[in-house]
Amino acid sequence: MAGIFDREEGCAHHKCPELIGRSRESAQLAVVFQRSRLVTVVGLGGVGKSALVAEAAERVARTGTTVMAVDIAVLSGTEQVFQAIGRTAADQEQLLVVDNCDHLLAPAAAAVGQLLASFPGLRVLVTARRRLGTAGEQVLPLAPMRLGDAVRLLALRAHQLGVPLADDEEDRVTAGRICLRLDCLPLALGLAAGRLPDLSPRELLVQLSETGGSLDLAGLGPDVPCRHRTLRHCHGWSHEQCIAQERLLWARLSAFGGTFTRTAAEKVCQDAQLSRATVASAVNGLVGQGLLEHVNGRPELLRMPRTVQDYGAEWLARLGEETRLLERVLMWSRGLL
Ligand SMILES: Nc1ncnc2c1ncn2[C@@H]1O[C@H](COP(=O)(O)OP(=O)(O)O)[C@@H](O)[C@H]1O
Ligand SMILES: [Mg+2]
Repeated sequence: MAGIFDREEGCAHHKCPELIGRSRESAQLAVVFQRSRLVTVVGLGGVGKSALVAEAAERVARTGTTVMAVDIAVLSGTEQVFQAIGRTAADQEQLLVVDNCDHLLAPAAAAVGQLLASFPGLRVLVTARRRLGTAGEQVLPLAPMRLGDAVRLLALRAHQLGVPLADDEEDRVTAGRICLRLDCLPLALGLAAGRLPDLSPRELLVQLSETGGSLDLAGLGPDVPCRHRTLRHCHGWSHEQCIAQERLLWARLSAFGGTFTRTAAEKVCQDAQLSRATVASAVNGLVGQGLLEHVNGRPELLRMPRTVQDYGAEWLARLGEETRLLERVLMWSRGLL
């Protein structure tokens, strides 16, 4: 079924989301989908996994292939997952989209595995915050948007809200800073644009610099799912999916304030609660969920997205470890650890 994802310009169908940028990622998705009947798009909440997959599915539907979709986010238990996914199967060439597997990853993985074994004509596209771990799965990690695309998205949303950005140097620079502050995360950009009827771009940037300022931007509207209402909800949802060691490490790594090496992470964050080996494996767990990203594709150098760091910093304070960790980061930077 090679070629079903070939990208066409424009998207006539009303349900197809109008994606900004992402042509490279769409092409990558097409390539991995030729290699496997099961592809999982993974990444941070709000990074645009569902939007990317919806656009890809739309293109498949236009070739005449049957496309079915299940949104796992609205389900509440294993039984519901099996029922919802099982109901979609058919003895024909078919694409099944299993969207937002975050909180019910294990049952979704089991149900998808069973269906793929039973129906040879079935192909499955999954979105989740981490991989399913099912045999034959190809994983496509989705990173945040490129800066130019992020600025275009912010400008488009502002325009749609009737408060277009001024076409001058100052607003362009401010928009760029807002996007960087929000890690070029499409969900965050949409939430930020929602403040522009009340705040100038410069005032918005100032608000975002305040503690928690990015986490509490609120999205309104009946269509916004609960986990996308604010970045606090969004990262909180990820936090719940983490194992205990990943949660603790997330908080501790926030003390670095940005970029660090794996070795630094291990030396600074290890103690009686987290052994050095546990830190190393929990780092991989966080990378697998997009909560840490490689800098310039270098496996040794890691970066925690800024809003993820804000969320972790709140936990660090709540755990009462802030001072101790900041001291350890300082000692590390002076070569004393
Ligand atoms: N490339 C894009 N262009 C325009 N809007 C986007 C893009 N990617 C994501 N969005 C919007 O950002 C929000 C979050 O995206 P979504 O796909 O739901 O994230 P995820 O599934 O990774 O949590 C949605 O409102 C979505 O429409
Ligand atoms: Mg999603």
